[in-house]
Amino acid sequence: MKNVKNYLSENKDRFLNELIELLKIPSVSADSAFSQDVLDTAEMVKARLEEAGCDVVEIHETAGYPIVYGEKIINTDLPTVLVYGHYDVQPADPINLWHSPPFEPVIKKTEKHPEGAIFARGACDDKGQMYMHVKALELMVKTDQLPCNVKFMIEGEEEVGSNNLAIYVAENREKLANDVILISDTGMIANDVPSITTGLRGLSYVEVEVTGPNRDLHSGLYGGAVANPINILTKMIASLHDENNHITIPGFYDKVEELSTEERAEMAKAPFSIEKYQEALDIESVYGEKGYSTNERNSIRPTLDVNGIWGGYTGEGAKTVIASKAFAKISMRLVPNQDWKEITELFKTHFEAIAPKGVKVVVKPHHGGQGYVTPIDTIAYQAASKAYETTFGKKPIPQRSGGSIPIVSLFEKELGSKTILMGFGLDSDAIHSPNEHFGVWNYLKGIETIPYFYKFFTEMSRS
Ligand code: BES
Ligand code: MN
Ligand code: MN
Repeated sequence: MKNVKNYLSENKDRFLNELIELLKIPSVSADSAFSQDVLDTAEMVKARLEEAGCDVVEIHETAGYPIVYGEKIINTDLPTVLVYGHYDVQPADPINLWHSPPFEPVIKKTEKHPEGAIFARGACDDKGQMYMHVKALELMVKTDQLPCNVKFMIEGEEEVGSNNLAIYVAENREKLANDVILISDTGMIANDVPSITTGLRGLSYVEVEVTGPNRDLHSGLYGGAVANPINILTKMIASLHDENNHITIPGFYDKVEELSTEERAEMAKAPFSIEKYQEALDIESVYGEKGYSTNERNSIRPTLDVNGIWGGYTGEGAKTVIASKAFAKISMRLVPNQDWKEITELFKTHFEAIAPKGVKVVVKPHHGGQGYVTPIDTIAYQAASKAYETTFGKKPIPQRSGGSIPIVSLFEKELGSKTILMGFGLDSDAIHSPNEHFGVWNYLKGIETIPYFYKFFTEMSRS
């Protein structure tokens, strides 16, 4: 392709500044205090898509936050790429652990990013990665080398479950018709070890409530004589894993796909240092399901984790009390073939069954979604692989991720197309954590690589 590098170096500062403007708006979808900011962000995305060269850009209202849809159709005989991304971000808290305010982006050098990284909530997940696609479109349009049609669908509720997007997709199948879906909302192994994400885990997220006595009690007067909901809840949670760290819910593993020895051997070839992994997290040892490596535990195996637990007195000093209620939020990461609704039911039935007499248990399902695997024997994967090879000088490694983008399996069901996950973030970029950042190099590399995907995908589709 002509002038890709030139266009990038001439416009680099503007590309960064535009992203910084986008990051300044706190589009936290989970917290209604930010609702106007989320709406403002949708407007900004719309304006940027128009400037980048889309012929049509619309804001589609939903029962929640709007979806920004844009398109540039150059010739209906050519293939169509549908880009998906999200403009909402996770809450920034705990704010006091940020070294600079989460919505006042700054560029600082880090060990992994010697050329600097943009620090802000959403820098990597997903504003920075989504915006690479807007700038890649601009680059292709302005240098006269957009080879095919493109559609954009940027939502504002990914971090809260994409419920309204699911409705929008089901109602707009024709409008969204495409030959491949392209998403940058995942990561890669390292800047010198490019990889393409070929799998996402599913998710079932539930909240549990254990109620003992009808009011909080004096822990001296009643202690030992009634079930303490917090004691019971922690015992119940502890029993969800056995001594090998297998999950004990009956039927939980029934549909789990076991990978062949060959597939596992292939996975094990990806460069990985357990020492560096432990060092980066300040842990003496990793922990997990017996019989599986760390990379298997966090990608091809299902898990169950408590995300939050509360109840009783947690204020200053001591209060001698037996709380009436205890709560926990629990997530289960699922692998392909496990059905998230079925797993949610299995959890509920089991959790209610193991409750001792003397407490009442309520299980409230939150949200979830199916896992996804991208086949690598497709034109789309080959085109992506060739694009990375062109700009990184190395063939990318296919790698399954442990994270979830539940809407991807729904795209396949409703639109019948496969998704290519071209993620440019690093695990160390601290998404969902304080001090989230995205490498400037990664941002620009993404903008450089995406046009090659369009080129190769179009060429390969037509031959
Ligand atoms: N972009 C992430 C998912 C992700 C990150 C996948 C890195 C693979 C690698 C997405 O925004 C996210 O956070 N998803 C949630 C699920 C959602 C239903 C809230 C997750 O994985 O926890
Ligand atoms: Mn994301
Ligand atoms: Mn996220």
